[in-house]
Amino acid sequence: MNLLQKVKKIRTPKTSYKLIKSIGLRFSPRVFSSDPIADKHLKIIFDAARLAPSGRNNQPWFFYWIRKESKSYKKLKSCLPERNAWAFSAPLIIIACYDQTDQVDKINKWAQYDLGASVISLILQAQELGYYCRQIGIFDSNKIKDTFNISQSLNPFTLIALGKIGTNEDYMNTEKEIIGKELLPWSRKKKIDKELTI
Ligand SMILES: Cc1cc2nc3c(=O)[nH]c(=O)nc-3n(C[C@H](O)[C@H](O)[C@H](O)COP(=O)(O)O)c2cc1C
Repeated sequence: MNLLQKVKKIRTPKTSYKLIKSIGLRFSPRVFSSDPIADKHLKIIFDAARLAPSGRNNQPWFFYWIRKESKSYKKLKSCLPERNAWAFSAPLIIIACYDQTDQVDKINKWAQYDLGASVISLILQAQELGYYCRQIGIFDSNKIKDTFNISQSLNPFTLIALGKIGTNEDYMNTEKEIIGKELLPWSRKKKIDKELTI
């Protein structure tokens, strides 16, 4: 078994039930292939994100995206800490933002929750098309806002590295420390629900 096969074996969810294909295959790798994302696929992926449910139908999400070839990609590098440098193997990085303004209350208290719903739709649609994603919560949000002149009302909340998973050769050429993390067993809580009858 080669390294890529090992990572997939360890990280692909083990489930007792037949789930929706993209849920059953999804995990977040740190090694991506440099293959670009087709424009049509990107359109499909954002279309899925667009259709998510949201409180008062505010749809408080907005996404910027940066391709590896763009000069913006280099600028983005200075907004991430070293521990998330793995992200720059990805051919495309998305900046997922929420807008907290609300017409009824002063602030939309569901904005982050709604962004999460939109992001998981995006990720599962990407997975369905054969791509993988890994989110990044640790980055300098203010620096991203300044660097890319992002509107005051938008808050960059997570970044999403998107691409095809790396080839075995990509994995073989990746730092040992990152590979060590990739080979850590995948774990999930066993029990997350309980019927209430009182
Ligand atoms: C909001 C959020 C922030 C995250 N931030 C980081 C991060 O900064 N760096 C990183 O390597 N992974 C990050 N992750 C990825 C998680 O560590 C990963 O999703 C989790 O360990 C479960 O693994 P899985 O997605 O492969 O099932 C983040 C995930 C989420 C949802």
